[in-house]
This record gives sequence, structure tokens and C-alpha cells, in this order.
Amino acid sequence: MGVFANNLLSGKVILITGGGSGLGREMGSRFLELGAKLAICGRREDVLRQTAEELSHGNNQGKFEIYYNTCDVRDPEQVRDLVSAVEERFGRIDVLINNAAGNFISPTERLSPRAVDAVLNIVLHGTFYMTLEVGKRWIDRQQTGTMLNIVTTYATTGSGYVVPSAAAKAGVLALTRSLAVEWAPYGIRQVAIAPGSFPTDGAWSRLSPTTSLEEKMMSRIPLGRTGSPDELADLATFLISDAGGYINGEVVTIDGGEWLRGAGQFNDLSELTAEEWDDIAKLTRKGK
Ligand code: HXC
Repeated sequence: MGVFANNLLSGKVILITGGGSGLGREMGSRFLELGAKLAICGRREDVLRQTAEELSHGNNQGKFEIYYNTCDVRDPEQVRDLVSAVEERFGRIDVLINNAAGNFISPTERLSPRAVDAVLNIVLHGTFYMTLEVGKRWIDRQQTGTMLNIVTTYATTGSGYVVPSAAAKAGVLALTRSLAVEWAPYGIRQVAIAPGSFPTDGAWSRLSPTTSLEEKMMSRIPLGRTGSPDELADLATFLISDAGGYINGEVVTIDGGEWLRGAGQFNDLSELTAEEWDDIAKLTRKGK
């Protein structure tokens, strides 16, 4: 059973970039169940079509309303055309979710300039173009709205081996916090989610391509498991809903405690056995 009232997002028009697969699709599915009208875009039409078909089945209150169209967020003209098409279909947009991303693991010195551009253009420029296109229209029409950016925990900490992604996501986080202040007088709210490990096909095949890398990743998560898409969809729902209406410029981390595990100086002591702790206690207690 869901945690939200069935009509929580009733009538809201929500546009999700990269909504044809992965976490974008999962969020879209939840938003539809809660009454939203959904628009998804991505680069691959066949993926979008299939997702739209699978998600549009509806519930006992009727068929779900879903619109899809191709759009490469790296191209401002495609972004403009997509936003116009969604407005034509649904009359307006209430929520923009900047979810489209590109990433892969590589030692930084192996990257070509084009490899850097590939990630920066999707993540930073794509998010910026989409935010500008939708934001300008909202401001012109004095319409209020919410923007949710999907970032990552290493947007704050940085991370080796995914440096273009880290730099781009840090930029998106700065965009979120900056516009939270600048555009708040227009009634435009900015929020972000920093997910840790959520094993979707697109991300996992690129970031944890072998079993041993996957096991290493898992061992870093204090809760001992990866996140479920439902958990991320619930968080996104709360943040974009009217219930989250006073949250502005905040990034919510959902990672099972993973980034803090890496941060605390003594956290690797979790590897010690009970016997080793007994020995250490003898050495460290007063009057040993
Ligand atoms: C090194 C690589 C590479 C790799 C591509 N390149 N993959 N270099 N290692 N694994 C280089 C290419 O050689 C080329 O440079 C340049 O990048 C562009 O490659 P293309 O394949 O032409 O790019 P394109 O088709 O635009 O694809 C973009 C992409 C791709 C980012 C490279 O992976 C993609 O489309 N991904 C979308 C989905 C995705 O990545 N999802 C995961 C998001 S997860 P040269 O110089 O040779 O021409 C995420 C969250 C992070 O972001 C948090 C997780 C915990």
C-alpha cells in the first residue's frame, strides 16, 4: 500500500527528462498512480514508446495520461520544441524533473575532451537548458512551479574515476541552490535528491560492471543493501508535492548512509571482530 493519498498529485503536469528508463521511469510510474499527467523525454524513441505503453494502463479511476517525445537535452532547440509540445498537449507544466544523466567510470587521465563534453553536456548543460526553457515560460506567465534535480552524493564530496560527472553534478547543485533564492519570488521552488546506489540497468552497467566491483560497492553501504526505486519515488513525490511546499534549495541524500561511511575517520573499524575489540579494550581502558 502506498504512503500517499491517491490524489496527492492530481492534475499536476510533470515533465521528466530521461523518463523512459531507470529511476526516471520509476518516478513517472508513481506520479501517474497519484494522479499526475506525465510527460517523458529521452533520446531513444522505442524506449519511450514502450514505457508510455506500459505505464498508460491506468487504475480504477481511469486511464493514465502520458505523453512522450524524443529530446536530446544537449540541444537547446530540441529542448525548446519538447517544452512547447508538452505545453500543447497538457496546457502547461507544473513540475520539471531534471533526471537525464550520462556517466561512466574511467581514470581521468584516460579521458578525451569529447568524453568530458559527453557527460558535462548532458548533465550540466542539459539541466541548464531545460531549467531555462521552463523557468522563462513560468516567469513570463507568472506561473508557479517546482524543479527537482537528481544529483548524487559526490556532487558534494567529489569522487575520483567519475570526475566529469562529479563536476557536472556539483554544477547542478549550485544551480539548484542559486535559483532557490533568485527565483523564489516568482513562486518557483528548487529541490534536489542525491541518490546513492540504486541498481538500474543504465547506471549499474556503467558504474559497477563486474561482480567484484558490485560487492565492493555494497560493502560501503552501512544499511547493507542498495536502494529500491520505490524509496526514491516516494522521496521525489514528497518533495514535489504541496506537502513539501516550504522546502526550497535543499538536497536530500538517500544512500543508506554510504557517503558518511566514507567520511568518518574511524568508520573502517567496522571490520574489527569482537575478539579484536576485547584486545583493544584491554589496551585503551584506564588501569589496564
Ligand atoms: C572512456 C568513453 C567511455 C568510457 C564513452 N567515452 N564511453 N571514454 N571510457 N567508458 C568517450 C568516447 O570515446 C568519445 O570520445 C566520447 O566519450 C563520446 O562518446 P559517445 O559514445 O559518442 O557519446 P554518446 O553517444 O553521446 O554517449 C554519452 C555517454 C553514454 C555518457 C558516453 O554513456 C550515455 O549515453 N549514457 C547515458 C546513460 C547513462 O550514462 N546513465 C548513467 C547515469 S548514472 P572520443 O574522443 O573517443 O570521440 C549517473 C548517476 C551517478 O549519472 C551516481 C551513481 C551512484
